Amino acid sequence: MQHNKVLILDFGSQYTQLIARRVRELNIYCEIHPFNKVPEDIDGYKAVILSGSPSSVRSEEVPHPDLSNIRAKKPLLGVCYGAQYLAHFSGGEVAPSNTREYGRANLSFIKEDEFFEGVSEGSQVWMSHSDTIKHLPTNGVLLASTHDVENAAYKIEGETTYAIQFHPEVYHSMDGKRILENFLVQIAGVNQDWTPQSFVEETVEELKEKLGNDKVVLGLSGGVDSSVAAMLLNKAIGENLYCIFVNNGLLRKNEFQDVLEQYKGMGLNVKGVDASARFLDALKGESDPEGKRKIIGRVFIEVFDDEAHAISDVKWLAQGTIYPDVIESVSATGGPSATIKSHHNVGGLPDFMKLKVVEPLKLLFKDEVRRVGASMGMSPNLLGRHPFPGPGLGIRILGDITAEKVRILQEVDAIFISNLKSWGLYDSVWQAGAMLLPVNSVGVMGDERTYEKCVALRAVESTDGMTADWVNLPYEFLQKTSNEIINKVKGVNRVVYDISSKPPATIEWE
Ligand code: XMP
Repeated sequence: MQHNKVLILDFGSQYTQLIARRVRELNIYCEIHPFNKVPEDIDGYKAVILSGSPSSVRSEEVPHPDLSNIRAKKPLLGVCYGAQYLAHFSGGEVAPSNTREYGRANLSFIKEDEFFEGVSEGSQVWMSHSDTIKHLPTNGVLLASTHDVENAAYKIEGETTYAIQFHPEVYHSMDGKRILENFLVQIAGVNQDWTPQSFVEETVEELKEKLGNDKVVLGLSGGVDSSVAAMLLNKAIGENLYCIFVNNGLLRKNEFQDVLEQYKGMGLNVKGVDASARFLDALKGESDPEGKRKIIGRVFIEVFDDEAHAISDVKWLAQGTIYPDVIESVSATGGPSATIKSHHNVGGLPDFMKLKVVEPLKLLFKDEVRRVGASMGMSPNLLGRHPFPGPGLGIRILGDITAEKVRILQEVDAIFISNLKSWGLYDSVWQAGAMLLPVNSVGVMGDERTYEKCVALRAVESTDGMTADWVNLPYEFLQKTSNEIINKVKGVNRVVYDISSKPPATIEWE
């Protein structure tokens, strides 16, 4: 089944992905493409949105795509830079603004239009721009202003072209989603037919067709993405999906057994491979963070490759790659950087595996992966898990890794996480874990002097891991958790709480 599609042309704004998410929340399928690669099959798109940009239309290297197949032929919405672009190149004027135009502003309507239907006078919108539209383009009709921005919203007479200086996609624009809906549904007539259920049905059909009777191998990590990818493939090809779950010895306490059980309960054909000893052996004496990552990545590939070869006649490798990993980003200078991030957890599988790659989630954002998982009946426990790095506790044990250090950190981490859950705090934290520091400090237990390890607890809030802030956990929670750790985990006599934001710190300590 063909859904209506919306095209978002990306001019490099930090908010472009947010536009896509808001559109998808309206159950409308959309794609982001870089401004300099307008898709050739433009007929397949029902409406087009031009994103914001860090560039200025007045600069020499202004991104300037050919929109002749779009302009006046398709419903078109310019957002921020997109609005300035439509003005500047069509007889209007854009100039540096004299007043600060960042943050909140309130709309005041000049002319009634279905574009703003259901949006009340004074509605808060979010501005973030340093140029301003001085004069509207030819046939421009002013729709709304704010206190500081006269030309905050306009349309072009005789076309379905609209332009807004503010950002409807950010949370602080109170009626932003309504405005996008007015444009896409009322004005452009796009169908709202893209739902988690329809995604599952169509993806399963596509996978069936693509894979036929071929065998597929997939590395499960215990995380959300690989698990949801596995469930989709399982629906499509059943026993022909061979899942491999590798214990690298650096998982959380009891994680290997627990998650393996859970996977089996989900009907997956999964093989657990306990390679702890092999990983720990390879890591012996290595204390450099990147060195440890490389070893863990290499051994993972060796183990995975051995296991994949043990299955006869495998043709495909499935990966849990998601949309943010594949969107070609446009760099802040306006030039296309065309970097495609390599998938973190799988760490770049080698060419010698010679398998074709299938990525059933590569069109979804993280929250959509969760919704797709939920619509297949997957457990909220699994779908709500905190992110966990591929190298696991290996990058939370600072310095070299030994079995004893892993044991200590697993115990500490288990107490911290289970307390977060029992205090009802787990779901309000984006990621949490403990770090084992390469520091011994003096303590006293009973009458004895101790000289033991120090651990740091870290809990952060974030949306994507790119920026993060520490969570203000209740003192009483920290007190109880610290007591429990020191009393129960042999070898630890001191607990500290990390209160650094990212940037300048990172989430992990290594
Ligand atoms: P940082 O420490 O860079 O972490 O602020 C951001 C997010 O990425 C995770 N992370 C990793 N995930 N392999 C992974 O699969 C890695 O080497 C790695 N390093 C960091 C981290 O847990 C956080 O969610």
